[in-house]
Amino acid sequence: RLRGGARVESTYAMLKPDVASKKEVVAEIIKMINEAGLTVERKELCRLSKSLCKEFYAEHSERPFYNDLVDFMSSAPVLKLEVSGPDAIKTWRKLLGPTNSEKAKEEAPGSIRARFGTDGMRNAGHGSDSKESFAREYALMFKGGGFPKI
Ligand code: TYD
Ligand code: MG
Repeated sequence: RLRGGARVESTYAMLKPDVASKKEVVAEIIKMINEAGLTVERKELCRLSKSLCKEFYAEHSERPFYNDLVDFMSSAPVLKLEVSGPDAIKTWRKLLGPTNSEKAKEEAPGSIRARFGTDGMRNAGHGSDSKESFAREYALMFKGGGFPKI
């Protein structure tokens, strides 16, 4: 633990297809990460298969937005990131802002989702919500889990 109680940890961050291929947006987001005291440890631009997106978002499989979300996430490349630093999980979600970009524009206008997202689905980024989620998401995205099942 660091002074003040912060924990050095990693989070799985991901820039979604609406922003992952926009070089200037990516550069600005990485600048925000570094200015928050966090470090990008790993970075991969990848097109995700539909089955990997289904598995990644499995907790939402009964929600009405699930199929649209899976289609969106597999429609174009994402930028996979491992981000580390003090309280990385919470700090990165704070940088992202509220899930819905329209709400983020009202409530957290400087946040990533407010600045670069569009609506409740095209919201620029993902962040793990706990250490357990990080472990699952990291394994799925960086350790070869979740390849298309045939
Ligand atoms: P969720 O885990 O609730 O949000 P967060 O990304 O902030 O952890 O939802 C996962 C993703 O599902 C979210 O980033 C965008 C999408 N989504 C929708 O498309 N519609 C919705 O109503 C919700 C709640 C989420
Ligand atoms: Mg979530």
